Order: sequence, then structure tokens, then C-alpha cells
Amino acid sequence: MGTEFDTKYLSGFIEDEDLNGIESEVKSAHDILYSGTFRSATGWLDLPENYDINEFNRVKQCADKIRNDSDILIVIGIGGSYLGARAAIEFLHSSNYNFLGKDTPNIFFAGNNMSSSYIGEILDMCKDKDVSLNVVSKSGTTTEPAIAFRIFKNFMEDKYGKAEAKNRIYCTTDKNKGKLKELAIKEGYEIFAIPDDIGGRFSVLSSVGLLPIAVSGADIDRIMFGALKARNQFMKCSLEENDCYKYAAVRNILYRKGKSIEILTAYEPRLSIFLEWWKQLYGESEGKNHKGLFPASAIFTTDLHSMGQFIQDGSRIMFETNLIIKNSRSHIVISKDKNDSDGLNYMSGKTLEQVNRTAFKATVLAHCDGGVPNGIVRIKDSSEEELGSLIYFFEKSCAISGLILGVNPFNQPGVEAYKNNMFALLERPGYEGLKNKLCGNLPV
Ligand code: PA5
Repeated sequence: MGTEFDTKYLSGFIEDEDLNGIESEVKSAHDILYSGTFRSATGWLDLPENYDINEFNRVKQCADKIRNDSDILIVIGIGGSYLGARAAIEFLHSSNYNFLGKDTPNIFFAGNNMSSSYIGEILDMCKDKDVSLNVVSKSGTTTEPAIAFRIFKNFMEDKYGKAEAKNRIYCTTDKNKGKLKELAIKEGYEIFAIPDDIGGRFSVLSSVGLLPIAVSGADIDRIMFGALKARNQFMKCSLEENDCYKYAAVRNILYRKGKSIEILTAYEPRLSIFLEWWKQLYGESEGKNHKGLFPASAIFTTDLHSMGQFIQDGSRIMFETNLIIKNSRSHIVISKDKNDSDGLNYMSGKTLEQVNRTAFKATVLAHCDGGVPNGIVRIKDSSEEELGSLIYFFEKSCAISGLILGVNPFNQPGVEAYKNNMFALLERPGYEGLKNKLCGNLPV
């Protein structure tokens, strides 16, 4: 089926004239995307067709090795070097992947925060287990993963000795440069190259995401096939025929009507990290020059009991996009109770999936009534193929949407501000001037 965007519940919020009115801007965005202006950052556009097959096969071989010789894989990375792999693993398996009965390694993520207790817990869990390490950093200089790698590299060398540790450390980084690249060459680690023209948040379908995903036992050929289908499906510059462009257009129309927050919702907990991946993709791509929709997320029905009140009745500044998976994997039927002591017999015989779907319909209708526009992004199931399609759909619509908005969707200059302050406060050489400036303003 692939990914579709359903605008049924947007009627009353978006008129045909709105779509007609923005069509020329969509065309300009399409032309810019394919003009070569951003050639150095759009390698992901043709990646599903045009990937390095030798590297891809090496990913599969190394994943086999890790599955055979390790109980645990630790993936070190942050932002685009972290979220895609974790999102895909949970999407395809479960948010409880590590607790499932399975013959693949547990997978823990580190380097995505600086919490000492978080790293300490992972080190404890690794003590009596066989471990492999995949460190992912395009720049090779990001502080969080660099610190985590120093700690886990020492752990691996203490546990296995330098020679065997070397066989268990896999490095995914820039093809040519960076501290991590230099270190990996010096130590003789297996190295995977992140293509130059693919930025972090667009890199999940490169070795950045594919190695951990393959270790989890997922079929990465099917993911690439799904992405390839989406690439072909979402090529045409037409709002009528291209749902990916329609989604980008709708976001911008609603933004111009004062909806400055988009909430991506899902009714499956296994999608919660996928929503985080989406938040980074859109937040980092569009939030520039004091413009952009703020990307938020919610898992329903869970969050209806925490954020539901606000969405229904608070400031009218948001719209919702519902990420819906048509077919569930599990079919649990609600039983009949002899005494109906809990009063639920009116639901007996229904599957939990039917109830969840009904909750979705009820929520969309209520929120639309409350003045919240609702769109639906729909896929058939939580298979590898549908995941590949969904990833490509969101990546491309993000690029088109950012270009309609008038920002460069492929840079992230704002991320540097906190880093520079941190370096100054940690007394990194070269940051003395900034440190003096900051010290007068420090929070207690
Ligand atoms: O999308 C991005 O570019 C960022 O989120 C990066 O992925 C993140 O900052 C990590 O960078 P790096 O892979 O260089 O360690």
C-alpha cells in the first residue's frame, strides 16, 4: 500500500482555494529540491536506489557476526545518529524489544545524554554478557557520544583485551575526516562511511541506522525496497497525485492560519520513538529565522488522560496529524463476564484493536469539533516495507515543507549555541572569552 495522507477531517479547516493558492509554492520548492542548490545535502533523495551495495552487504555481514557473538549491542550516538535506529527497532519489534523472548542481542543506546547513572546502569548490565559496540557520529566530535565512547571503549578493552575489543567495535562516521575516523583507523576498527551528502536526521537508511536495525533481526532489504517504492510514488510535482507534497502543503497552510504547533499522534506505543525521530527531523529542519511549526507528539489514548484537556479546549494553536497503522499484529478479544461486574459486557466479542480504532475516531471527531484540524498519515502495517515508505515520505515532505516555509531545511546553526557555552564553562581551550562573558550570568 505505501504511505497515504488522508485529508477527510481537514474539511472546514482547509478549502480547495487554499490548496490551489499554495500549488505554485510547492512547485518552486520541488524545483529547488531538484535544482542542485542543495546537492551537498540531498543524497537521501535517491539513496533507496543509489546506495553502496558493498557497504550494505558489509552491514549485513557485521550484523550477523554481532548476532552470533554478542548478547548486547550498545549503540552510541545522539540526534540523527541515534533516533532513526531506535525508532525503527521499536516500530518493527516493540517498545519492549529488550524484554522479548528472542535470539537477537539486546540493544542499548548510549551517548544520547550525559547522565552518569544512565551510563552506569548500562555498564552494570554488560558485566557478565558478551558485548559489541557501534559508535555513530558523522562529525566524530560530538561531545555526548565522544564521552560515552571513551567510557565504553575502556570497558571493552578491560573486559576483552585490546585485540578482541577491536573485533567488537564498529565505527560509523564521516568518510574522510573527524577525530573518530582518525581513532578508528589507528585502532583498526571496522568502519562504515556516512555519505557526505546525507545529514544526520536524514541518515537512518544509511549504515547509521541499518547496522543496529539489522542486528535486531529486521530485513533491511525490505526497508530499502519500501523506501524505493515511496521514492517512485512521491516523485510527481502534483498536490492531487502526491500525498507527500500535499502533507507539506497542508502544514504550511495551517501554519499561515495561526496553527503553530503540529502534534503527531499515534495509537501504538511502539511508535513513540518514531515520533521522536519525526520531531527531530521537522524541528531541526524548519525551526529557523524565528519561523516554523513546533513539532510535538502524543501517544493516545495514554496522553488523552494528560494532554487531552488542552488539545480539546486550550489555546487553539495546534493541529494534529494522526499516524495510523491499519492492521494490528495481535488480536485480543474482550471476553464476556457472567455477572458483568465491571459493566463491560457491551464490548464483549470486540477486539481490542476495534476499540482502539473507535477511540481514534471518537478523538478525531471531538478534536475537530473543538477546532483542531486533523490529518491522517496511514500505512498498512508495521512491516519493514511500510517503515521504509514512511521514512521516505516524512523525509521528502520535510524538505518540501521547509522550502515552502523559506528556510534551509538541511542545516542546524542553532544547535551550536549551547555547545559553545558548555565548552566555555568546561574550560575547553579557545573558549576563555566566552567563559568570562557567561560567568556573570550563570544560573545558580
Ligand atoms: O541531524 C543532525 O545533523 C544532528 O542531529 C546530528 O545527527 C547530531 O547532532 C549528532 O551529530 P554527529 O553525528 O556528528 O555526532
